[in-house]
Amino acid sequence: MPQLIAGNWKMNGLRAEALALCEALRAGAKGLTCHLLVCPPATVLAEVARALGNTPVGVGGQDCAPEPSGAYTGDISAPMLRDAGANFVILGHSERRHGHGETSTQVRAKAEAARRAGLTPIVCVGETEAERDAGGAQAVVGRQVGESLPPGFTGVLAYEPVWAIGTGKTAGEADVAAMHAYIREQAGEAVPILYGGSVKPGNAKSLLAVPNVDGALIGGASLNAADFLAIARAASPGSPR
Ligand code: PGA
Repeated sequence: MPQLIAGNWKMNGLRAEALALCEALRAGAKGLTCHLLVCPPATVLAEVARALGNTPVGVGGQDCAPEPSGAYTGDISAPMLRDAGANFVILGHSERRHGHGETSTQVRAKAEAARRAGLTPIVCVGETEAERDAGGAQAVVGRQVGESLPPGFTGVLAYEPVWAIGTGKTAGEADVAAMHAYIREQAGEAVPILYGGSVKPGNAKSLLAVPNVDGALIGGASLNAADFLAIARAASPGSPR
């Protein structure tokens, strides 16, 4: 299975920046054997989807509401993302769980809504530094996986230790291997498991080589086309440099 390299632009990207990034990706993605995906802010999603049309780069949202429509001011539904050109949606990112108090039960309802709309959910899980220091990393992640995935889940999981996101710190390869093996037992063979948290061109190759790592979810480095493409090349054995 080719690895999946997904970019999470978070709350970054005015139209001109987003389109410039798409232009660079359109040119640079040629010949890559990994799967590539960008998740821009909802305001530019339709334009990004148009700009990346006829390229192998997929497009996703960063969150969706559990309801398909209705009186939910400020929310964006899964059918809306689909209508704008998305095929994927990130759910339960730590910035939603910790910044907006989202629970695993809500994430699960969103994953079901995403599937109903024809979107592939990318469900994020990960422990905080305090939880890891207390020896509870696997228990926390195991609980998040158990409670966030609908029965018979088809989609993608992303293990993102909260303390590694945007900090420049990455989990050690042995810790990544142990956590991914643990998640694999719960999620099964068919669910790709991405690693996320400060993945950069310099550490991508070694992280992507860890057993049960099926790709990466990239924040900061996905805003720079050269860095994002360098990570994508690390996930594309045999592709031209
Ligand atoms: P980062 O973010 O690569 O900037 O650490 C990863 C993420 O939040 O998905």
